[in-house]
Amino acid sequence: MSAIQIERLSADDYAPRQGLVYVDTRDLHPLYDKLAFLSNIVLAGPKGIGKSLSVASFCAIKQYPIITFDCSEDVRRSHLIGMFVPRGPETPFVLGPLTSAYEIANETGQCVLLFEEINALTPQMQKVLNGSTDFRRTIEVPECKKVFRLDPKAKLWIVGTMNDAVYGGVYALNEDLKSRLRMLPLKYPKKTDEQKIIAEVLHKAEIPVDAQLLGKLLTLAQESRTGSIEYALSTRDLVQIVEDVHRVGLNRALWIATGKFEGSNQETILKRIASILGIGERLLADMGSGKSA
Ligand SMILES: Nc1ncnc2c1ncn2[C@@H]1O[C@H](COP(=O)(O)OP(=O)(O)O)[C@@H](O)[C@H]1O
Ligand SMILES: [Mg+2]
Repeated sequence: MSAIQIERLSADDYAPRQGLVYVDTRDLHPLYDKLAFLSNIVLAGPKGIGKSLSVASFCAIKQYPIITFDCSEDVRRSHLIGMFVPRGPETPFVLGPLTSAYEIANETGQCVLLFEEINALTPQMQKVLNGSTDFRRTIEVPECKKVFRLDPKAKLWIVGTMNDAVYGGVYALNEDLKSRLRMLPLKYPKKTDEQKIIAEVLHKAEIPVDAQLLGKLLTLAQESRTGSIEYALSTRDLVQIVEDVHRVGLNRALWIATGKFEGSNQETILKRIASILGIGERLLADMGSGKSA
């Protein structure tokens, strides 16, 4: 029988994207400097607050190759470690993100492996990560007759992100995986920090920001985060709204933003917009039926 042919992408394919604008108001980068490759971490917090971006921009600055994997409940072992892929007369074993990370780390000296929404993995799939997140730093893959081991000098940093809000299709993190990881609980930024983040992101994009309007939008976002409305406007949403204000004007920007809310929540946000920004509820609501604003 011929030897199993193993394939993967090259280290260059995992080169971090450059030019990202990340505003580090939480001083996460100095923290990553201390923890990277020593402690595997999970960033837990609401969506759209820069969790993924903080890791991506850290890798860009450090020139660390980064493998990013979007987790879901459909992920099976073969999606993580790899599978045989028939191609013409050959059927190579194509490595998945986990096994690729070992190989890239051994080849280049280091690799960052980012699991987005790590808690979306089923409990069984979370267990597949155990050997990689503890002292073993090994994963046995009988499927391709190989044990992937981190070379003594090679460094692998496993990072996860997770939304702490409970929503459909997402499991909690296993106790045994949790015990192997450092958990960083993150919250929405303080108002002054959020203002700084948005101003800087838009400045880099050469989009002017009206400070007074931004203040009102921040108030609107904060009110949406109290738990009484199902959808909370994130920092990412605020960036989008300010971009839209620049491109299509305030009324349309807000009308688009209300699309993120459903049913009675939409009524509530329209009322909040009316009281904070002084734009009539019906005006925005009617835009969906084509009545001009
Ligand atoms: N600290 C920040 N610096 C720059 N952009 C930020 C920051 N926080 C949030 N954002 C906005 O959110 C987007 C990135 O959010 P992301 O990292 O994907 O969020 P998360 O992973 O927390 O869901 C950015 O494109 C930007 O619009
Ligand atoms: Mg993310």
